[in-house]
Formats: sequence, structure tokens, C-alpha cells
Amino acid sequence: MFIGRKDYLDDLESLWRKRTSSIVACRGRRRIGKSTLFREFAKRAADVYMEFEGLAPNPKHPVTNEDQLAEFAATLARLTASPVLSLPNWKDAFFWLDRAIDDSKKTVVLLDEISWMGGCDPNFPAVLRNAWETWFHRHERLIVVVCGSVSAWIKRNILGNTGFAGRFSRDARRWSRGARTGSPPFRPFRTGTP
Ligand SMILES: Nc1ncnc2c1ncn2[C@@H]1O[C@H](COP(=O)(O)OP(=O)(O)OP(=O)(O)O)[C@@H](O)[C@H]1O
Ligand SMILES: [Mg+2]
Repeated sequence: MFIGRKDYLDDLESLWRKRTSSIVACRGRRRIGKSTLFREFAKRAADVYMEFEGLAPNPKHPVTNEDQLAEFAATLARLTASPVLSLPNWKDAFFWLDRAIDDSKKTVVLLDEISWMGGCDPNFPAVLRNAWETWFHRHERLIVVVCGSVSAWIKRNILGNTGFAGRFSRDARRWSRGARTGSPPFRPFRTGTP
């Protein structure tokens, strides 16, 4: 059962009214309910939900960029009921993701644990930014969510990346109504929170 988060859900819902695409960042420590919020939002307010998750580091078998791309390809194939593509790089990955987005449908794309997804490729932030500029932002009913628990990586590589400056509709770490500086971080989920 999903509890609370009405303010966040309402704020996300308001993004559909723009009739242009949005990019949202959500970062914060583990197990505070980041992923669950977007799953719930998509369940309530989207026609299509596409969730991708970076592969976790594995000390026994170091995870490579190729592994991350293969995971992305496998997820895309499952979500689109298509054959698994061989993706040589992130540009191709985002190109095929873009092709799978249907403008007639309200779509939420969650790029979860993005520091793992992109952490093996120093070009990842720039490629994502170009994909946003060239493809994703042209959709009318798309919300792209960049999410993860490694806040510093997201801040440095995505939010702090000058190419992304000003692109973000929301940074959930500062996601509270009317707040500007010094506002609270994304509130941890607690049972019983209204
Ligand atoms: N609003 C909510 N109502 C009910 N249960 C919730 C809510 N938010 C989170 N939970 C539960 O809390 C747990 C942690 O949530 P979630 O996996 O979304 O956290 P997270 O911040 O994405 O963690 P991680 O960084 O490890 O991915 C899950 O079991 C989830 O079902
Ligand atoms: Mg999560």
C-alpha cells in the first residue's frame, strides 16, 4: 500500500499541464522511497511507464559499461516487446529509447541508479544531455526522471554539468513547495506519514 507523498505526486502531476517534456532529478540516501514514488506516480497518472535501472557494483565481477548497456537493452526489449538490440554505446541506447516513445501517450521514463548506469562511461552525462536536447525534449507528454542514491555523482555529473544547466524542471532534493535555498532534502518515507 502506498502511503502519503501527496505534495510530490501533485507537483509531478502539474508537469503534464506544461504540454512539453520535463526532466526531473531525485536523489537521496537508500531506502527512502525514491523509486516507489515514481512507480506510484506512473501508475496513477501515466499511460506508459519505462523503468531502467543501472546494475549494482559487484566486487567479485566488476560491472563494465558493456554490461550496463546490455542490461538497458534487455529492459528496453522487455518494455517494448521487441528483440534485444545490440547497443554499442549510450547514444544508440537513447536513440532507441526515443524511438519507443509514443507522443499520444503520457510517458514516464525512470533512469534509476543512474550513477551505476553511467558511471563506467565518462561520456555518459554529455550523451544524455545531447539525447535530451535532440530527442527527448521534443516530446509533448514525457517526463524523464534521473534518480539515484549517489547524490554527489548526480550533482557533479548531471545537475552540475553546465550543459544541463537550467534544463531541470525539478530537483527533488530541493523539492518542497515554494522553497528556494536551504530547503529540506527529499523527505524519507516513513510508515504513517500523512
Ligand atoms: N510512499 C510509500 N508507501 C509505502 N511504502 C513505501 C513508500 N515509499 C517507499 N516505500 C517502501 O519502502 C521501501 C524502500 O523504497 P524504495 O525502494 O522506493 O526506496 P529507494 O529510495 O528507491 O531506495 P534505493 O536507493 O535503495 O533504491 C520499499 O519497500 C517500498 O515499498
Ligand atoms: Mg530505488
